[in-house]
Amino acid sequence: ESILNRPGIKMIKSPDKREKVCEALKSLRFTENDVKQMMKVFEEQIDYANSLNEEDRKKSDLFWECTYVSDLVKGNENGRYLGLDLGNDQLSGPAELVFDHIAASMETFITEEKIQSQTPIGVGFTFSFPTVQKTLKKSILVTWTKRFKCTNGPGLDPCNLLEEAIERRGGLSVPVNVMARISDTTGTLMAGSYYDKKCAIGLILGSGSNACYVEHLKNFRKLDPKEAKSDKILVNCEWGAFGDNGCLDFCRNEFEREVDQYSNFPGSYTFEKSFGGFYLGEMFRLVLVKLTKAGVLFDGKGSNELMTRWLWKSRQVTTVEKDNPGSSENTMSVLKEMKLDTIATEEDVVLVQEACYLMSQRAAYIVATALAVLLNHINEPEVSIGIDGSLYEHHPRFHDHITTLLQKLVPNTKFRLFLVKDGSGQGAALVAAVESS
Ligand code: GLC
Repeated sequence: ESILNRPGIKMIKSPDKREKVCEALKSLRFTENDVKQMMKVFEEQIDYANSLNEEDRKKSDLFWECTYVSDLVKGNENGRYLGLDLGNDQLSGPAELVFDHIAASMETFITEEKIQSQTPIGVGFTFSFPTVQKTLKKSILVTWTKRFKCTNGPGLDPCNLLEEAIERRGGLSVPVNVMARISDTTGTLMAGSYYDKKCAIGLILGSGSNACYVEHLKNFRKLDPKEAKSDKILVNCEWGAFGDNGCLDFCRNEFEREVDQYSNFPGSYTFEKSFGGFYLGEMFRLVLVKLTKAGVLFDGKGSNELMTRWLWKSRQVTTVEKDNPGSSENTMSVLKEMKLDTIATEEDVVLVQEACYLMSQRAAYIVATALAVLLNHINEPEVSIGIDGSLYEHHPRFHDHITTLLQKLVPNTKFRLFLVKDGSGQGAALVAAVESS
């Protein structure tokens, strides 16, 4: 569908302006060709990531880690477990201080909830940063991502850091046994499987993005089959880093490049930066700046708020998207916040909405493309996809955009996308339960 057919673009009276708008927004299209090519490249990169040959493995930035979680939730698990979830707040400083803060929070929770126990309570730890997973518990942090900017951490084991911090306090008021380090995606998959037996993908669409899915053991060459507990294996894709080696350059647009250039970790987490909630607000701002500089928005003037990097968050994107065609209340509230309301004309408002719609649609299509590849791997007639994260939860159109494209890409799979609120946290406790039963 061409941008020219968008209802808001058709409303622009001057043909000259219409043309300029289309020119400015054309790189927001994610074409059929982009979809095809991305699916192909993703498959290639999975294949490399999965290779037993170290040289080949270096050709891919996907971690494609075995989670060592032995099974999905069966329903016969029993007992009391703690789920701990770290992944979103903004934290900085030495990693040890961050973990002291986590241990202190655990103590507060235990006290507030009046938890008592003589025997150790199993803890599942959701630690949502790229790690190399050695065993269920042992993993090594590779780098911080998203908002985190600690001065150290890479090379360290998050469960160790947690245990040491607990020790530094002289223990917690109930004994705990840290059993597993999982990713939020694994947590979401586990929690998803608790609510829906067909759940085979856990997806995070929050400030960052990643997925975990149930793979056939025969397709996962990195694990010695003798080590496997069944013919299925839970794989943490850690797909945010997809494209860091340039394999996605064919479809990256100027907005994605600029977001990356001014981000915390330029050159890394390419894929995630195309649609992760932490980046979408800034991307939206860049799109509006481009339209302004092209002289077709805000009379070419804008405001300081429009020109301030990272001031716009994904909340602004989801708010604008909440306006239905013909209404402008939510968009106006964002424009007011950004001191653009007094200069915005009616055409401006519609154009802001169109830009937001197209950018969001592109983001959702990229997600759908990657999901299609996972669904092909899973190769089951019916699959549910459990999703946690603020972007999915609050964006009014993301769900529908993903569904629309996915239906085309995997016509023979009956799929269902569903929200697993706090799946990442619940899943940590569920892993501890599954591994104890
Ligand atoms: C980032 C992290 C990854 C996590 C994802 C979603 O990509 O590196 O581990 O799963 O965000 O929170």
